[in-house]
Amino acid sequence: MILVTGATGTVGRPLLDLLLDGGAEVRAVTRDPASANLPAAVHTIEGDPARPDTIAHALDGVTALFLNPRAVGQGADPGPVTAAATRLLGLARERRVRRVVALSALNVDHDPADQPSRLRGEYNKEVEAAAAASGLEWTALRSGYFATNTIGTWAAQIAAGDTVRGPYAHASWAPLHERDLAAVAARALLTGDLAGRRPVLTGPRALTQPRMVELIGAAIGRPLRFEEAPPEAAREGMVRSGMPAALADGFLRLQERSYLQHDLVSGEVEKILGRPGIPFDQWAAEHATDFRTDAP
Ligand SMILES: NC(=O)c1ccc[n+]([C@@H]2O[C@H](COP(=O)([O-])OP(=O)(O)OC[C@H]3O[C@@H](n4cnc5c(N)ncnc54)[C@H](OP(=O)(O)O)[C@@H]3O)[C@@H](O)[C@H]2O)c1
Repeated sequence: MILVTGATGTVGRPLLDLLLDGGAEVRAVTRDPASANLPAAVHTIEGDPARPDTIAHALDGVTALFLNPRAVGQGADPGPVTAAATRLLGLARERRVRRVVALSALNVDHDPADQPSRLRGEYNKEVEAAAAASGLEWTALRSGYFATNTIGTWAAQIAAGDTVRGPYAHASWAPLHERDLAAVAARALLTGDLAGRRPVLTGPRALTQPRMVELIGAAIGRPLRFEEAPPEAAREGMVRSGMPAALADGFLRLQERSYLQHDLVSGEVEKILGRPGIPFDQWAAEHATDFRTDAP
């Protein structure tokens, strides 16, 4: 039995399918079962990983746990940022859970100012450390830029026209398909192959922002182009749309530096799965509707 936190999310949802395909029994945690829309074959568990005692009962009989730092967060009570993760891992150990796989990020060892997600309460580094100190067999998946980020960043502009404006055209990422990340997570959960490891996971190719926009255009049948905009204008737009200024600054800094590892392609997905990572043009074709939904 595998227990998945963050089960309704970007990584969790494809992970459920892959675990079921692998023959596992799966418990999926969500705060809102009514809207979760999960596969009938999974056992849906209502609870909040940020309040670990709400899901303690669901740890009985579990062999492996998937820990998503966004879902676990800081915990409901004031205290150390890893309070919820540490409590959840303690409960898991008490119930003889053998293995934990923590979602993490490839920039966890960088300057905290280059990790804007921390401002949203995603303590990837600390959750990873809590997993490693848990006494359970552990793996931390140090993921790079998710391909799905492009939906939040560009879909509204693409719905409104053929030009996408943004800062730092030179910034390049190796966008990672969520199914590749989920497939590595499934491997780690189902086997001991990745025990004690922190693989850095990226997509198979580094692409500049103009190239990514062009590939999304090809997927939706429209000739899109990227136009570089000054960072100040981008900052203004993000703040106007409700993002806290510090978070906007963090994202711009991250983009300017492209995770400080320009053009990083780790090759780990291919090594672990024994097949190439899914290229961004295929991701874009599968997600074409995400860029068409608001079309006028
Ligand atoms: N985006 C990237 O490029 C990137 C790269 C590396 C690492 N990461 C890390 O990956 C993690 C995010 O993974 P993801 O994209 O799969 O997550 P997600 O889809 O945003 O969220 C997963 C689930 O967690 C629950 N959740 C979301 N926000 C929550 C909140 N504020 N409080 C409590 N529960 C919440 C929701 O489940 P229910 O509503 O069903 O309860 C949601 O479906 C973060 O730790 C992030 O830093 C992201």
